[in-house]
Amino acid sequence: TGPIVLDCDPGLDDAVALQYALGSGRYDLKAVTAVGGNAPVEHTYRNARALVKTFGVADDVPVYRGVGGRLTRRIEAAAAFDFHGRTGLGDETADDAGVPEHAENAVEALLRLSRTYAGELTVVATGPLTNIAAALIADPSFAERIRLVFMGGAVAEPGNVTPTAEFNIWHDPEAADLVVASGVDYTMVGLDATHRARFTLEHLARLEAAGEPLEFTVRLLKFYFGSYNHFHRAESVPLHDPLAVGAALDPTFLDTAEGTVFVECGSPLTNGQTVFLRKEHTAGTSLPPQLTERARGSQGKVALGLGPRDFVE
Ligand code: BDR
Ligand code: CA
Repeated sequence: TGPIVLDCDPGLDDAVALQYALGSGRYDLKAVTAVGGNAPVEHTYRNARALVKTFGVADDVPVYRGVGGRLTRRIEAAAAFDFHGRTGLGDETADDAGVPEHAENAVEALLRLSRTYAGELTVVATGPLTNIAAALIADPSFAERIRLVFMGGAVAEPGNVTPTAEFNIWHDPEAADLVVASGVDYTMVGLDATHRARFTLEHLARLEAAGEPLEFTVRLLKFYFGSYNHFHRAESVPLHDPLAVGAALDPTFLDTAEGTVFVECGSPLTNGQTVFLRKEHTAGTSLPPQLTERARGSQGKVALGLGPRDFVE
């Protein structure tokens, strides 16, 4: 692929996604930008810097601090704070010593890179869409210069943080709605696909057998298994964020449909729910005219399941 930026909130599966992007050897990773989500941004920024150090790319991949709050809502203690451990990386102490901090923030870095690589840059977002929305507010033409692949949302699958909402969208629904309405070329990799990208104990045993280079990741994944077991009683885990990275590289990871995504921002019950209108249904819909107009103006691709390519090989 061409140049990419990983915008993330590490986050156990964000960490695995980063290692996957680096390990594939097929990504030209220009930067990592951190956003608040799984943990407050102080932690996700520190975690991201610790991760580039652990993965041996601290000199090549700069990390920028992003937006900590949400676009319009006050921050509250999020459910995910426990899920990913107190500081976001399970039991690990994030060692970021010696990794440079930059005065430029994530939004500025995203805008700059989108100009340097106009028309070529892929942004893979694996956290709430707050940084991407802030970049679009600062410069709406950002939408024309990038391709966005984001992990978030759900169509037919139930939510994972409320009965109808997926965590990344629920955390900042206004940001997500602004992004999908911006005209940006997007692919939504939501729970309909990621819940099928199962990582099992047998896969874990295979990684463990590989030894040293994957020891850190194995520890993160063990914590992740523990959280899924505790909160969802699951015996295998969905690797949400790595699937978004994989899909940016190879679209055959996903089965997608074209259409428009709307994000519910007004209802306390279904806050953060993503509603998908298929392209071929746009003309026949009874939605209010302003929504139909929006559907014509901003369409993207939405994953409805996994494609033919194997998630774990
Ligand atoms: C998403 O929420 C976060 O907890 C994960 O890192 C992933 O990005 C899954 O809903
Ligand atoms: Ca994430």
